Amino acid sequence: MAHHDNLIRSEFTRQADAFAAAAVFNDRTILGRIREAAQTTANARILDVACGPGIVVEALAPGAAEVVGCDITERMLDKARQRAQAAGLAHVRFMPARAEALPFACATFDAVVSRSAVHHFPDPSAALREMARVVRSGGRVVTVDVMAAETAEDAALHNALENLRDPSHVRMLARSELHRVLAEAGLEVAGCTTWTNHREFGDWMKIINAPERIKPLEIVMRALARGGMSAGIGLRLENDRLLFEHTTGLTIAVKR
Ligand SMILES: C[S@@+](CC[C@H](N)C(=O)[O-])C[C@H]1O[C@@H](n2cnc3c(N)ncnc32)[C@H](O)[C@@H]1O
Repeated sequence: MAHHDNLIRSEFTRQADAFAAAAVFNDRTILGRIREAAQTTANARILDVACGPGIVVEALAPGAAEVVGCDITERMLDKARQRAQAAGLAHVRFMPARAEALPFACATFDAVVSRSAVHHFPDPSAALREMARVVRSGGRVVTVDVMAAETAEDAALHNALENLRDPSHVRMLARSELHRVLAEAGLEVAGCTTWTNHREFGDWMKIINAPERIKPLEIVMRALARGGMSAGIGLRLENDRLLFEHTTGLTIAVKR
């Protein structure tokens, strides 16, 4: 576990600036969906697990009583604090904490959210059990993450490509698996909305800020596309551009 945490920290320390500025993670429509799903109200206390540079925390803050962001990468927490300060948000705070061992009492929060993080957890069940533990009864756990295909072979190929791009990537789950893990954590799935992000290879690689990974991965993905292997993400060449789709799922789960 310590090895994986170190991998996460080194990846996200290097990625922090590019990630914080990436259009795909600052899309206001998506942030609005997360805010709506978390049911922000004047008295609400909300936790954002693996908050990164605080983009989601900033979106949740208006109208909430308190929003707490936690992450294991100090550089991300620094960026989150700077962002909150620039936005004049006095009722948000950030702290180092692992998703698998949240330093909060049971039923502390009205809602817990986590975006683009479950696929970095070596044990997603442990992290989702923790999120379920710290939310109050009737409260919501909202996860937003790219979903893998339901076909095992496609999902394995897709995850292998993601892992070659970013070695801290563990595994994107298929929708059915995520729902099972949520149910095992004592949460009832109340809704799942999906949307498609159209991705282009160069833009996707830019975020991770590791130029030495571009060439070998591009060769592999072009070969797959030419061979008709879509990896469950519509991988293809169009006018020599390497394109694919990410299906992102926003899942609302309620603690009974
Ligand atoms: C792809 S970023 C997403 C950031 C943010 N949730 C967002 O969507 O804007 C993933 C974040 O998860 C954090 N992370 C990964 N594993 C973690 C863990 N086990 N506990 C806490 N944070 C973790 C990383 O440090 C990184 O900041």
